[in-house]
Amino acid sequence: MEAYNLTVKPWCSCLLLGLFAVITFLSSFANAETHYHEFVIQAKPVKRLCRIHNIITVNGQFPGPALEVRNGDSLVIKVVNIAQYNITLHWHGIRQLRNPWADGPSYVTQCPIRPGATYTYRFTIINQEGTLWWHAHSEWLRATVYGALNIHPKWGFPYPFSTPTQEYTILLGEWFDRNPMDVLKQALFTGAAPNVSDAYTINGQPGDLYRCSSKETVRIPIESGETILLRIVNSALNQELFFTIANHQMTVVGVDAAYTKPFPTRVVMIGPGQTTNVLLTADQPPAHYYIAARAYNTAMNAPFDNTTTTAILEYKSASCSTKKGQSSRPILPQLPAYNDTATATAFNAGLKSLSQVNVPTTIDENLFFTVGLGLNNCTRPNSPRCQGPNGTRFTASINNVSFVFPTINSLMQAYYQGVPGIFTTDFPPVPPIQFNYTGNVNRGLWQPVPGTKLYKLKYGSKVQIVFQDTSIVTTEDHPIHLHGYQFYVVGSGFGNFNPSTDTAKFNFIDPPQRNTIGSNPGGWVAIRFVADNPGIWLLHCHLDSHLRWGLAMAFLVENGVGQSQTVIPPPADLPQC
Ligand code: C2O
Repeated sequence: MEAYNLTVKPWCSCLLLGLFAVITFLSSFANAETHYHEFVIQAKPVKRLCRIHNIITVNGQFPGPALEVRNGDSLVIKVVNIAQYNITLHWHGIRQLRNPWADGPSYVTQCPIRPGATYTYRFTIINQEGTLWWHAHSEWLRATVYGALNIHPKWGFPYPFSTPTQEYTILLGEWFDRNPMDVLKQALFTGAAPNVSDAYTINGQPGDLYRCSSKETVRIPIESGETILLRIVNSALNQELFFTIANHQMTVVGVDAAYTKPFPTRVVMIGPGQTTNVLLTADQPPAHYYIAARAYNTAMNAPFDNTTTTAILEYKSASCSTKKGQSSRPILPQLPAYNDTATATAFNAGLKSLSQVNVPTTIDENLFFTVGLGLNNCTRPNSPRCQGPNGTRFTASINNVSFVFPTINSLMQAYYQGVPGIFTTDFPPVPPIQFNYTGNVNRGLWQPVPGTKLYKLKYGSKVQIVFQDTSIVTTEDHPIHLHGYQFYVVGSGFGNFNPSTDTAKFNFIDPPQRNTIGSNPGGWVAIRFVADNPGIWLLHCHLDSHLRWGLAMAFLVENGVGQSQTVIPPPADLPQC
């Protein structure tokens, strides 16, 4: 029988190979699936920290349902809103090629889904693998409305690392012992910073270090010697986090649905919006170990939630003995100090794309965006509506423009239908005034100008953006998220960006690909991408308090030539304002 292959004539083996290629080509299509889901937005009583709150959920679940899909699959998600709030859902990190209608930020790509209304999101996953997530994109509803979106390789394709024996998703969240919508409402009234959360959570559970919580602490069973994949998502509303596991090392293999070179670390720093995939090997003595997360806080003199959330990594061989004796408490890990920027920087510096990537080396659009907070002066300082620092109101901006969301139409609908007066396209490519961004900034520059300004990009243009943090009010690491794109993080540093010396050090070989990146506290970060996705795409700080203060802008990427470079028509059920 073995001789058979050898005797096959060359033309014949070519034919066989060709046939094989056709079959695999066809079956790769046949294997792409469409997943249908109904997401009912509804209130549900949930008890945490000894108190019951009526929280907004999807299908009564908290966190919401996890979507398990493969690269190439399509999703059809019918959202039925039976809650009391307007809502939209965003599929964070999905590129939504030519399909802004499925992206979700409210008043940007769609009008909100009203109570009693429905809208069906339809989209396809194209060339993305790893971990993404979905969340509400309307006011502060994402405090409880979020879930995982795990994208596995196509059928028959392996991971670029040895197959883990198990996969486990870890959604890090923030819990408020109040209705988060009321926390927001109060902050918008007073102009002060919103109250901080009362707990962090792992898959909705605060863990052993909080009142009335230890019965429901998340437990992850593991077999001695096995290697599992943890998909870590920061779904917290307003806080970057450090994540660690007692006595264990992790190996990072992906971020934001893009593979990275395997990189060993004891600590993961993760900003809201970001995801990190790590391999974890059970190579320690069988016991129970805490998995823990707490704040990485870079804003100075700002209150923050300094509590610690935990879950338990349980070696199966250890569980019997501990149950009997009930003695051995899990081992607690060391976490970095709250302001340990050195650890955060080292973590980010370790991230590289798995292989060499295609970064645009020439650029058509050289954008320089200052990002930071600000203060609006009041005519009646210290009045109930001016409870910010020194009787002001908090605000935030990019290039001195504080983004104002439209209220009577969405940007994308106004653009598509040619409705004037909703936005302008004069967003400044550089700050209107140059100053020492990270130095002692003159008070006259603390108050930005409100506006709904977009920046126009030609289809296919090669874009560089340098995000420069400012020291206005405080320096801070702002996790900047760009909708509709994945970009390369080509460089970062501290102080003011220097175009000549800093550009020379950019990584054009294997920079990591992400959808959310920190500005660096008192520093800068540079990204590059090709504007190959037409539509209107929001760019914003993923700390929701900053987003609401105006730390946002949007790109209007024009259509290119022909259908394949043009925004598809809106679905018939797209909500109207
Ligand atoms: Cu994850 Cu505009 O958001």
